[in-house]
Amino acid sequence: MTAMWASGCPGRDNPVEPTVPGRQNGGMTSPAFSPTLQMRDGHTIPQLGLGVYKVEDDLATSLVDGAIDAGYRHIDTASLYANERGVGNGVRSSGVPREELFITTKVWDDDHGYDETLRAFDTSLELLQMDYVDLYLIHWPVPKQDKFVDTWRALEALQTDGRARSIGVSNFKPHHIERLRKESDVLPVLNQVELHPWLPQVETRQYNDSLGILTEAWSPLARGRVLDNDILQGIADKHLKTPAQVVLRWHIQTGTVVIPKSNSLDRIRENAQVFDFVLDVADLAAIASLETGERTGMDPDLH
Ligand SMILES: NC(=O)c1ccc[n+]([C@@H]2O[C@H](COP(=O)([O-])OP(=O)(O)OC[C@H]3O[C@@H](n4cnc5c(N)ncnc54)[C@H](OP(=O)(O)O)[C@@H]3O)[C@@H](O)[C@H]2O)c1
Repeated sequence: MTAMWASGCPGRDNPVEPTVPGRQNGGMTSPAFSPTLQMRDGHTIPQLGLGVYKVEDDLATSLVDGAIDAGYRHIDTASLYANERGVGNGVRSSGVPREELFITTKVWDDDHGYDETLRAFDTSLELLQMDYVDLYLIHWPVPKQDKFVDTWRALEALQTDGRARSIGVSNFKPHHIERLRKESDVLPVLNQVELHPWLPQVETRQYNDSLGILTEAWSPLARGRVLDNDILQGIADKHLKTPAQVVLRWHIQTGTVVIPKSNSLDRIRENAQVFDFVLDVADLAAIASLETGERTGMDPDLH
């Protein structure tokens, strides 16, 4: 996995400072701040993005626009979130060219199956008002339906026709990915799983690494619940940062793609200020001690 920094060569992976009018930064939109990670299909993904679960459709427009203005280039939505239209509107009102942005959406449980997934994808593109997404994910494996291999074949077709540049999975345990390995042609580029200091997902991450699959953290702040913690506060005080910034920095240093959500533009900007300090070995060991195994969401085998 290769980290590439936005200050390198211009291009899709390292966007140059946009020339569109912005509302900050002396009339310019802020430059992208996040490094990108290489995916196994050759495309790259900005390591830090904005999650928009539980963001109302209307608010999504202004938050996405504001986040892009602050330098975010990666947005994570899903058909379940019912805000794809708002995300698409935010992208367009930002004025930043589509090709400089990385947009992820996901197929929901009710739409598993080959034909159903193709139809769900069409609906997502229509709501986003885009002609492609950068990453399309199976939201959950839903083993009780036992359709995720057919769903995956639809994602393969969408990648072949170019409307999903990259394809991946979410909430897949190693044994779910093993089925894809045996029964399909293409491996996911990325696996988005619940991951935060309480649940560092060491085994899943090692498995993903062994196949060149990136790990992406959902609920990277454990929905905000992990932040009220003396250890994190101590590390934050040491670096003149906030506990949220410490947790996000931990994700960045461990090579995880990370998509914190906030309804507040101030917090969205705060969550981006994680590239100007480094956690040391003692900090990382202290954060490792917070593991409890506690989940904020469901176990993927039971969902
Ligand atoms: N694939 C999946 O199954 C799945 C499941 C869940 C989530 N996701 C994705 O992952 C994204 C992130 O996960 P999440 O939304 O569940 O949780 P999260 O990002 O871990 O936490 C969001 C919570 O933390 C608070 N927060 C954010 N920044 C903060 C800061 N700097 N200081 C203090 N509090 C802060 C937010 O409050 P305010 O909003 O009030 O600021 C919100 O309550 C989602 O938006 C979605 O895109 C995927």
